[in-house]
Amino acid sequence: MAVLILFCCFFASLHQISAQQQLTDPAEDSSFSINCGGEDQISATGIHFYNDSQKLGSASLYVSPEGHFAVSNTGVFISYPNGPQYIASTDSQITRTLESELYKTARISPSSLRYYGFGLENGKYNVELHFAEIAMEDSISWKGLGRRLFDVYIQGERVLQDFNIQDEAGGSKRALVKKFEANVSNSIMEVHLFWAGKGTCCIPYQGTYGPLVSAIHAYKVSGSDDVGSPSKSDKKRVGRIVGVIIGCIGAVFIVSSIVYLWRTKEKTGHVLVYTESPRRKLDRLVRV
Ligand SMILES: *[C@@H]1O[C@H](CO)[C@@H](O)[C@H](O)[C@H]1NC(C)=O
Ligand SMILES: *[C@@H]1O[C@H](CO)[C@@H](O)[C@H](O)[C@H]1NC(C)=O
Repeated sequence: MAVLILFCCFFASLHQISAQQQLTDPAEDSSFSINCGGEDQISATGIHFYNDSQKLGSASLYVSPEGHFAVSNTGVFISYPNGPQYIASTDSQITRTLESELYKTARISPSSLRYYGFGLENGKYNVELHFAEIAMEDSISWKGLGRRLFDVYIQGERVLQDFNIQDEAGGSKRALVKKFEANVSNSIMEVHLFWAGKGTCCIPYQGTYGPLVSAIHAYKVSGSDDVGSPSKSDKKRVGRIVGVIIGCIGAVFIVSSIVYLWRTKEKTGHVLVYTESPRRKLDRLVRV
Protein backbone atom coordinates (compact mmCIF):
# COMPACT_ATOMS: atom_id res chain seq x y z
CA MET A 1 0.00 0.00 0.00
CA ALA A 2 2.61 2.50 1.13
CA VAL A 3 4.82 1.50 -1.75
CA LEU A 4 1.97 2.14 -4.17
CA ILE A 5 1.46 5.65 -2.81
CA LEU A 6 5.17 6.37 -2.95
CA PHE A 7 5.14 5.29 -6.59
CA CYS A 8 2.20 7.58 -7.37
CA CYS A 9 3.94 10.46 -5.67
CA PHE A 10 7.12 9.84 -7.55
CA PHE A 11 5.25 9.98 -10.83
CA ALA A 12 3.33 13.05 -9.69
CA SER A 13 6.54 14.93 -9.03
CA LEU A 14 8.08 13.70 -12.27
CA HIS A 15 5.00 14.96 -14.06
CA GLN A 16 5.39 18.33 -12.32
CA ILE A 17 8.93 18.61 -13.57
CA SER A 18 8.16 17.63 -17.14
CA ALA A 19 5.08 19.90 -17.28
CA GLN A 20 7.25 22.77 -16.09
CA GLN A 21 9.85 21.98 -18.66
CA GLN A 22 7.31 21.83 -21.43
CA LEU A 23 6.29 25.36 -20.52
CA THR A 24 9.76 26.78 -20.23
CA ASP A 25 12.45 24.72 -21.90
CA PRO A 26 11.89 23.68 -25.52
CA ALA A 27 10.01 26.75 -26.65
CA GLU A 28 11.74 29.56 -24.81
CA ASP A 29 10.52 32.39 -26.94
CA SER A 30 11.74 35.93 -27.02
CA SER A 31 8.54 37.24 -28.57
CA PHE A 32 4.88 36.51 -29.19
CA SER A 33 2.31 38.06 -31.48
CA ILE A 34 -1.44 37.53 -31.55
CA ASN A 35 -3.98 38.57 -34.17
CA CYS A 36 -6.73 39.12 -31.61
CA GLY A 37 -10.07 37.82 -32.89
CA GLY A 38 -8.47 36.89 -36.23
CA GLU A 39 -6.69 34.11 -38.11
CA ASP A 40 -2.99 33.35 -38.48
CA GLN A 41 -1.26 36.16 -40.29
CA ILE A 42 2.24 37.08 -41.42
CA SER A 43 2.72 40.82 -41.45
CA ALA A 44 4.57 42.78 -44.12
CA THR A 45 7.58 42.88 -41.80
CA GLY A 46 7.53 39.08 -41.41
CA ILE A 47 5.96 38.86 -37.96
CA HIS A 48 3.79 35.78 -37.43
CA PHE A 49 0.61 36.77 -35.61
CA TYR A 50 -1.05 33.73 -34.04
CA ASN A 51 -4.58 32.55 -34.78
CA ASP A 52 -7.01 33.80 -32.10
CA SER A 53 -10.29 33.28 -33.96
CA GLN A 54 -11.82 30.67 -31.64
CA LYS A 55 -15.15 31.41 -30.02
CA LEU A 56 -15.01 32.26 -26.34
CA GLY A 57 -17.70 31.78 -23.72
CA SER A 58 -18.77 34.18 -21.01
CA ALA A 59 -16.18 32.77 -18.63
CA SER A 60 -13.59 30.86 -20.58
CA LEU A 61 -9.91 30.28 -20.99
CA TYR A 62 -8.44 29.20 -24.31
CA VAL A 63 -4.87 27.98 -24.65
CA SER A 64 -3.45 28.00 -28.18
CA PRO A 65 -2.61 24.55 -29.61
CA GLU A 66 1.15 25.16 -29.47
CA GLY A 67 0.90 26.63 -25.99
CA HIS A 68 2.33 29.99 -27.01
CA PHE A 69 -0.46 32.04 -25.55
CA ALA A 70 -3.80 31.92 -23.76
CA VAL A 71 -6.78 34.23 -23.74
CA SER A 72 -9.49 34.46 -21.13
CA ASN A 73 -12.73 36.36 -21.13
CA THR A 74 -15.16 37.06 -18.35
CA GLY A 75 -18.43 38.89 -18.77
CA VAL A 76 -21.68 38.58 -20.66
CA PHE A 77 -23.04 41.05 -23.18
CA ILE A 78 -26.57 41.44 -21.85
CA SER A 79 -27.86 42.29 -25.26
CA TYR A 80 -25.99 41.67 -28.48
CA PRO A 81 -27.58 41.24 -31.88
CA ASN A 82 -25.53 38.23 -33.04
CA GLY A 83 -25.09 36.53 -29.71
CA PRO A 84 -22.02 36.87 -27.55
CA GLN A 85 -19.18 36.11 -29.91
CA TYR A 86 -16.49 38.25 -28.32
CA ILE A 87 -15.13 39.09 -31.75
CA ALA A 88 -15.76 42.27 -33.73
CA SER A 89 -15.05 42.46 -37.44
CA THR A 90 -15.45 44.79 -40.35
CA ASP A 91 -15.01 44.69 -44.12
CA SER A 92 -13.92 48.32 -44.30
CA GLN A 93 -10.31 49.26 -44.99
CA ILE A 94 -8.37 50.46 -41.98
CA THR A 95 -6.34 53.58 -42.59
CA ARG A 96 -2.98 54.76 -41.24
CA THR A 97 -1.43 51.28 -41.51
CA LEU A 98 0.04 48.89 -44.07
CA GLU A 99 -1.50 45.98 -42.16
CA SER A 100 -5.18 46.64 -42.71
CA GLU A 101 -6.06 42.93 -42.33
CA LEU A 102 -4.68 42.84 -38.81
CA TYR A 103 -7.23 45.40 -37.68
CA LYS A 104 -10.30 44.04 -39.47
CA THR A 105 -10.95 41.64 -36.61
CA ALA A 106 -10.67 42.42 -32.94
CA ARG A 107 -11.34 40.73 -29.64
CA ILE A 108 -13.98 42.42 -27.51
CA SER A 109 -15.27 41.77 -24.02
CA PRO A 110 -18.01 43.25 -21.87
CA SER A 111 -15.77 43.21 -18.82
CA SER A 112 -12.36 41.62 -18.65
CA LEU A 113 -10.05 40.27 -21.33
CA ARG A 114 -6.69 38.76 -20.45
CA TYR A 115 -3.93 37.59 -22.75
CA TYR A 116 -0.99 35.53 -21.53
CA GLY A 117 2.26 34.92 -23.40
CA PHE A 118 3.90 31.67 -22.20
CA GLY A 119 7.38 30.19 -22.23
CA LEU A 120 9.14 33.53 -22.55
CA GLU A 121 12.77 34.18 -21.80
CA ASN A 122 13.07 36.42 -18.80
CA GLY A 123 14.08 40.00 -19.45
CA LYS A 124 12.79 43.36 -20.56
CA TYR A 125 10.16 43.44 -23.31
CA ASN A 126 8.60 45.98 -25.59
CA VAL A 127 4.86 45.46 -25.85
CA GLU A 128 2.93 46.89 -28.79
CA LEU A 129 -0.83 46.97 -28.53
CA HIS A 130 -2.64 47.52 -31.83
CA PHE A 131 -6.03 49.16 -31.82
CA ALA A 132 -8.61 50.37 -34.33
CA GLU A 133 -12.18 51.21 -33.44
CA ILE A 134 -14.26 49.09 -35.83
CA ALA A 135 -17.60 48.82 -34.00
CA MET A 136 -18.35 52.52 -33.52
CA GLU A 137 -18.73 55.04 -36.26
CA ASP A 138 -17.42 58.49 -36.98
CA SER A 139 -20.48 59.82 -38.67
CA ILE A 140 -22.09 63.00 -37.56
CA SER A 141 -25.38 61.14 -37.07
CA TRP A 142 -26.39 59.65 -33.73
CA LYS A 143 -24.36 56.56 -34.63
CA GLY A 144 -21.20 58.51 -33.97
CA LEU A 145 -22.10 59.40 -30.42
CA GLY A 146 -20.76 56.23 -28.78
CA ARG A 147 -17.74 56.39 -26.55
CA ARG A 148 -15.63 53.33 -25.65
CA LEU A 149 -13.46 53.73 -22.58
CA PHE A 150 -11.34 51.05 -20.90
CA ASP A 151 -8.17 50.44 -18.90
CA VAL A 152 -5.11 48.35 -19.79
CA TYR A 153 -2.75 46.62 -17.37
CA ILE A 154 0.51 44.93 -18.36
CA GLN A 155 2.11 42.61 -15.77
CA GLY A 156 -0.31 44.06 -13.24
CA GLU A 157 0.65 47.70 -13.82
CA ARG A 158 -1.92 50.07 -15.24
CA VAL A 159 -0.54 51.54 -18.46
CA LEU A 160 -3.72 53.09 -19.87
CA GLN A 161 -6.68 54.56 -18.02
CA ASP A 162 -9.96 55.65 -19.60
CA PHE A 163 -8.39 54.86 -22.93
CA ASN A 164 -10.48 55.95 -25.93
CA ILE A 165 -9.25 54.49 -29.22
CA GLN A 166 -11.21 56.91 -31.40
CA ASP A 167 -9.92 59.98 -29.58
CA GLU A 168 -6.29 58.94 -29.84
CA ALA A 169 -6.43 57.58 -33.38
CA GLY A 170 -8.38 60.61 -34.61
CA GLY A 171 -11.46 58.64 -35.64
CA SER A 172 -12.77 55.16 -36.19
CA LYS A 173 -11.24 52.60 -38.59
CA ARG A 174 -7.85 54.21 -38.06
CA ALA A 175 -4.96 52.15 -36.71
CA LEU A 176 -3.21 53.10 -33.50
CA VAL A 177 -0.19 51.40 -31.94
CA LYS A 178 0.61 51.98 -28.27
CA LYS A 179 4.06 50.92 -27.03
CA PHE A 180 5.00 49.95 -23.49
CA GLU A 181 7.82 48.31 -21.61
CA ALA A 182 7.36 45.35 -19.30
CA ASN A 183 9.56 42.90 -17.44
CA VAL A 184 9.20 39.13 -17.59
CA SER A 185 10.65 37.32 -14.60
CA ASN A 186 8.70 34.03 -14.51
CA SER A 187 8.33 33.27 -18.25
CA ILE A 188 4.79 34.70 -18.43
CA MET A 189 3.51 38.03 -19.73
CA GLU A 190 0.00 39.17 -18.87
CA VAL A 191 -1.92 41.84 -20.75
CA HIS A 192 -5.24 42.66 -19.10
CA LEU A 193 -7.89 44.86 -20.72
CA PHE A 194 -10.59 45.91 -18.35
CA TRP A 195 -13.86 47.83 -18.59
CA ALA A 196 -14.26 50.06 -15.56
CA GLY A 197 -17.87 50.98 -16.35
CA LYS A 198 -17.24 54.19 -18.26
CA GLY A 199 -18.39 55.37 -21.68
CA THR A 200 -21.64 54.59 -23.49
CA CYS A 201 -23.31 51.18 -23.54
CA CYS A 202 -25.54 51.08 -26.55
CA ILE A 203 -24.48 53.24 -29.48
CA PRO A 204 -24.66 52.36 -32.35
CA TYR A 205 -26.21 49.15 -30.96
CA GLN A 206 -26.67 47.37 -27.64
CA GLY A 207 -23.50 46.00 -26.09
CA THR A 208 -21.00 48.29 -27.82
CA TYR A 209 -18.69 48.91 -24.91
CA GLY A 210 -15.81 47.33 -23.06
CA PRO A 211 -12.24 46.62 -24.15
CA LEU A 212 -11.32 46.04 -27.78
CA VAL A 213 -7.90 45.00 -29.07
CA SER A 214 -6.81 44.17 -32.62
CA ALA A 215 -3.36 42.65 -32.10
CA ILE A 216 -0.59 42.23 -29.55
CA HIS A 217 3.11 42.06 -30.38
CA ALA A 218 5.69 41.67 -27.61
CA TYR A 219 9.40 41.20 -28.13
CA LYS A 220 12.40 41.10 -25.89
CA VAL A 221 14.81 44.00 -25.79
CA SER A 222 18.17 42.45 -26.65
CA GLY A 223 20.73 42.18 -23.85
CA SER A 224 18.26 42.38 -21.00
CA ASP A 225 18.67 38.99 -19.38
CA ASP A 226 19.09 40.07 -15.82
CA VAL A 227 15.87 41.92 -15.20
CA GLY A 228 14.12 40.65 -12.11
CA SER A 229 15.55 37.43 -10.73
CA PRO A 230 15.31 34.48 -13.10
CA SER A 231 16.22 32.12 -10.26
CA LYS A 232 12.86 32.93 -8.69
CA SER A 233 10.98 30.56 -10.97
CA ASP A 234 13.50 27.82 -10.28
CA LYS A 235 13.04 28.36 -6.58
CA LYS A 236 9.29 28.21 -7.01
CA ARG A 237 9.55 25.01 -8.99
CA VAL A 238 11.78 23.41 -6.39
CA GLY A 239 9.40 24.61 -3.69
CA ARG A 240 6.45 23.02 -5.43
CA ILE A 241 8.22 19.69 -5.87
CA VAL A 242 9.32 19.70 -2.24
CA GLY A 243 5.68 20.44 -1.34
CA VAL A 244 4.47 17.45 -3.36
CA ILE A 245 7.04 15.16 -1.74
CA ILE A 246 6.25 16.33 1.81
CA GLY A 247 2.56 15.82 1.03
CA CYS A 248 3.32 12.30 -0.17
CA ILE A 249 5.28 11.43 2.94
CA GLY A 250 2.41 12.74 5.04
CA ALA A 251 -0.05 10.60 3.07
CA VAL A 252 2.06 7.49 3.51
CA PHE A 253 2.29 8.16 7.26
CA ILE A 254 -1.45 8.67 7.64
CA VAL A 255 -2.40 5.65 5.54
CA SER A 256 0.03 3.37 7.33
CA SER A 257 -1.22 4.51 10.73
CA ILE A 258 -4.77 3.71 9.66
CA VAL A 259 -3.73 0.31 8.36
CA TYR A 260 -1.81 -0.32 11.59
CA LEU A 261 -4.75 0.62 13.79
CA TRP A 262 -7.07 -1.49 11.69
CA ARG A 263 -4.79 -4.50 11.95
CA THR A 264 -4.32 -4.20 15.70
CA LYS A 265 -8.06 -3.87 16.11
CA GLU A 266 -8.61 -7.06 14.10
CA LYS A 267 -6.07 -8.92 16.20
CA THR A 268 -7.84 -8.10 19.43
CA GLY A 269 -11.01 -9.64 18.04
CA HIS A 270 -14.43 -8.08 18.10
CA VAL A 271 -14.99 -5.53 20.76
CA LEU A 272 -18.56 -4.46 21.25
CA VAL A 273 -18.92 -0.74 21.46
CA TYR A 274 -22.31 0.44 22.59
CA THR A 275 -23.25 3.74 21.13
CA GLU A 276 -26.97 3.30 21.22
CA SER A 277 -29.38 3.87 24.05
CA PRO A 278 -29.76 1.01 26.54
CA ARG A 279 -33.35 0.54 25.45
CA ARG A 280 -32.47 -0.16 21.82
CA LYS A 281 -29.60 -2.34 22.89
CA LEU A 282 -32.05 -4.42 24.84
CA ASP A 283 -34.38 -4.66 21.87
CA ARG A 284 -31.60 -5.94 19.73
CA LEU A 285 -30.52 -8.51 22.27
CA VAL A 286 -34.08 -9.74 22.47
CA ARG A 287 -34.29 -10.04 18.69
CA VAL A 288 -31.06 -11.99 18.48
C1 LIG B 1 -7.81 29.16 -36.35
O1 LIG B 1 -8.52 28.73 -35.19
C2 LIG B 1 -9.87 28.38 -35.47
C3 LIG B 1 -10.54 28.08 -34.15
O2 LIG B 1 -9.73 27.36 -33.28
C4 LIG B 1 -9.89 27.18 -36.41
O3 LIG B 1 -11.22 26.84 -36.70
C5 LIG B 1 -9.16 27.58 -37.68
O4 LIG B 1 -9.09 26.46 -38.53
C6 LIG B 1 -7.75 28.06 -37.36
N1 LIG B 1 -7.14 28.54 -38.58
C7 LIG B 1 -5.94 28.13 -39.01
C8 LIG B 1 -5.44 28.74 -40.25
O5 LIG B 1 -5.30 27.29 -38.39
C1 LIG C 1 12.00 46.49 -15.28
O1 LIG C 1 13.11 46.17 -14.44
C2 LIG C 1 14.05 47.21 -14.37
C3 LIG C 1 15.25 46.68 -13.58
O2 LIG C 1 14.84 45.91 -12.48
C4 LIG C 1 13.44 48.44 -13.74
O3 LIG C 1 14.36 49.49 -13.67
C5 LIG C 1 12.24 48.86 -14.59
O4 LIG C 1 11.57 49.94 -13.97
C6 LIG C 1 11.26 47.71 -14.77
N1 LIG C 1 10.24 48.11 -15.73
C7 LIG C 1 8.93 47.96 -15.49
C8 LIG C 1 8.03 48.41 -16.56
O5 LIG C 1 8.51 47.47 -14.46
